[in-house]
Amino acid sequence: MREVVQFSTGNVGQHALKAIIGRPDLELVGVHAASPNKVGRDAAELCGLSEPTGIVATDDIDALIALGPDCVVYTAQAETRPVEAIEQLTRMLAAGIDVVGSSMVWLVPPGQADEWLRGPLEKACREGNSSLYVNGIDPGYSGDTEVYSALSLVTRAESIIVQEIFDYANYDDFEFTGKSMGFGLTADEEKPMLFLPGVLTTMWGGPVRNIAERLGIELDEVRQRIEPWYADKTIECTMCTVEPGGMAAVRFAVEGVRDGEPVISMEHITRLTADAATDWEYPPDGKPGVHRVVVEGDPRVELNTHVSDPVLDVTAAGCVSTAARAVNAIDFVCRAPAGLIALEDIPPTEMIRGLMW
Ligand SMILES: NC(=O)c1ccc[n+]([C@@H]2O[C@H](COP(=O)([O-])OP(=O)(O)OC[C@H]3O[C@@H](n4cnc5c(N)ncnc54)[C@H](OP(=O)(O)O)[C@@H]3O)[C@@H](O)[C@H]2O)c1
Repeated sequence: MREVVQFSTGNVGQHALKAIIGRPDLELVGVHAASPNKVGRDAAELCGLSEPTGIVATDDIDALIALGPDCVVYTAQAETRPVEAIEQLTRMLAAGIDVVGSSMVWLVPPGQADEWLRGPLEKACREGNSSLYVNGIDPGYSGDTEVYSALSLVTRAESIIVQEIFDYANYDDFEFTGKSMGFGLTADEEKPMLFLPGVLTTMWGGPVRNIAERLGIELDEVRQRIEPWYADKTIECTMCTVEPGGMAAVRFAVEGVRDGEPVISMEHITRLTADAATDWEYPPDGKPGVHRVVVEGDPRVELNTHVSDPVLDVTAAGCVSTAARAVNAIDFVCRAPAGLIALEDIPPTEMIRGLMW
């Protein structure tokens, strides 16, 4: 039985919390809440369960560390406040607590992350003899597990395309996703973060370089392309309202190039409504989203992954899967040697233990 603290209950965290409460091999011992209206509330209430757990949310990180949990599941928004998030993570790691999570997407994969991020985290892991593992559905599954599954079916690969094609209409994250992608902005307004040179290659270049390294090939360059689509009518969605002339879809990719050709591409087609950018590709069979890998080779392989739920919308189902990528690794990460753990360090069957009860 692993004693676990859930850190934050946002889009991803609420599903991690629900999973921890439900699993017989994990025991919830604490919950962190940053929002004042969540502090003092029972964990069950914060993830939509009816039976109280007796564990109430706190914003006191020292009190959570003092509980001495085996592991913290860290799903707080981190990319908008990296300095504070590194400080929180290093405190827990240096105290000897293992951490799994979805935050700090630059750590997927950790070997490609910049020194400003790796350095302090590795130092804290050494101090506390602890380990940190970060993964999700994208970045994460689509650029590692799904790619490796497709490649395992070919004798020779010519190119790899990884795609996320999603309708984000119901994704409740304007603060980071909405603003950084520039949804709602007109062509004349200041360019959002995602459009700035080097931002895409920082976010998704890591998985591209990681695949190249695992394949044992040299890339000549890793480049980015990005294309906005502007609405011709008002679009209402959870994230924001897009007025006519505002951006309502975006297509972008990071490409690993060899001999002038993109051989490893990670592409996103993100719409706020199915009516946006109708010339661009859609998920197959009328589905609202897909994580797809296409390997051109001997033979050609195409894997289309669809997550769904009878109640939740497709982006929320993706958040459940992102939570799963972290929670399912808890037991392994608690046994792993100190340091930053990559997906490739974890035998696949280690992450299915405890799922069926
Ligand atoms: N790789 C993937 O596939 C994938 C997919 C989705 C998300 N992510 C990553 O996972 C993380 C969580 O995403 P999300 O959509 O769940 O985010 P979110 O709902 O926007 O925010 C998560 C939580 O961050 C907490 N928070 C905000 N400011 C904080 C602060 N100053 N100190 C401590 N906590 C703070 C809030 O906690 P309270 O609720 O306690 O107030 C909030 O609920 C992000 O870093 C995101 O990039 C990765």
